[in-house]
Amino acid sequence: MIGSVALLEQFEAPARLRALGGAYLASNTMGIIPASAIDAELECLRLQARHGIEVWDNGAWMGVLERYAAVIARYLEVSPTQVCPVTNITDGLWRVFGCLEYRGDRRTILQTAMEFTTQEYAAFGFERFGAEVVIVPSDPAHHTVPTDRLLDAIRHHRPVVVNLSHAAFESGYLHDVQAVAAACREVDSVFCLDAAQTGFVLPIHLQQTGADVVLLQQHKWGCGGTGAACVVAHPRFLERYEPALVGWMSHAETFAFERGRARFGQSAWRLLGGTPDVPAKARAAAAAGLIVDTLGIDRVFEHNQALVGALLEGLTEKGLRPIALPRRAGFVAIECGSADRARALEHGLRARHLVIDSRGSRLRVGPTFYNDRGDIERLVAALGELNRSV
Ligand SMILES: Cc1ncc(COP(=O)(O)O)c(C=O)c1O
Repeated sequence: MIGSVALLEQFEAPARLRALGGAYLASNTMGIIPASAIDAELECLRLQARHGIEVWDNGAWMGVLERYAAVIARYLEVSPTQVCPVTNITDGLWRVFGCLEYRGDRRTILQTAMEFTTQEYAAFGFERFGAEVVIVPSDPAHHTVPTDRLLDAIRHHRPVVVNLSHAAFESGYLHDVQAVAAACREVDSVFCLDAAQTGFVLPIHLQQTGADVVLLQQHKWGCGGTGAACVVAHPRFLERYEPALVGWMSHAETFAFERGRARFGQSAWRLLGGTPDVPAKARAAAAAGLIVDTLGIDRVFEHNQALVGALLEGLTEKGLRPIALPRRAGFVAIECGSADRARALEHGLRARHLVIDSRGSRLRVGPTFYNDRGDIERLVAALGELNRSV
């Protein structure tokens, strides 16, 4: 564990499960919301109850949105004006896809066979607007997508947009994003990086990734719960593209209530649409502040990787099969042979108060700052036993 006792006490499930001899190791799929973030959301709601419409005029709501954008900006090393709050990644993806045109010989949305379902569904949803979806196959074991194969496909198809998960949700494979960004620049494709699986556990700097847009959510490692997502866009994207999904808050001067077509400013708020979920952003800003400012994302990542290393070693000693990868994100996927077996192991672990999750034939284990080596040791010991009986 890293962080002070007072900070760690804010996270209920990890401490409760540890006291029962178990562990919470599923932050790759749902992080635990700290008490201070819940308080921040309640305070935001109370202000609305107390002041009604004045929360706009007295700066309470704008203050929340500014704090949220500021902490995300510190994380990705961008200006807060590059951050647009949205509800979830799917929502952000549609806003980005909706900025683009799919016509003539430039119609392709290119992604890989290892994207999350939402990315596939959203891309196919754009067929009605003229898009053609190209899916680059994974390796036969479905662990990675070889970088050369991906780069060749980008150069060949010259897509309108490359829509890529930073880390593959089933295996934890981390893409070489800088190589992808370079190929996108060669053929003038927008590079949209979905950081659902890596946000708030890996250091991610927009400029370094080379992406035009990064999509973040805090449901997982970000410990911010639902409704806490954003689109972070490079100025070159904002200068060039205008959104199709437009609402009153996309306007350059929202409170002027001008009629007719929306007039856009240079900030990412052109993507905003309607009234954002302000209380959720109050919660998200508080949780992000703990990770980005109080703990520090580099320290969070270092701790995560130390636990991932201990986990890989322990699993291998017990004869389990963690998926070997050339580059790994913050979680470990373990091949169980079949989906039924993976579910049976997951349930066996739950009965011992050890919480992890499964996808298909794989178990996934995602440790973060509120975990320690003891959590990993208890998981490995239990898995070693269950592996013999299930
Ligand atoms: C890579 C990836 N993108 C998107 C999502 C879904 O995001 P949201 O529910 O915020 O739309 C997930 C998973 O839960 C994911 O793993």
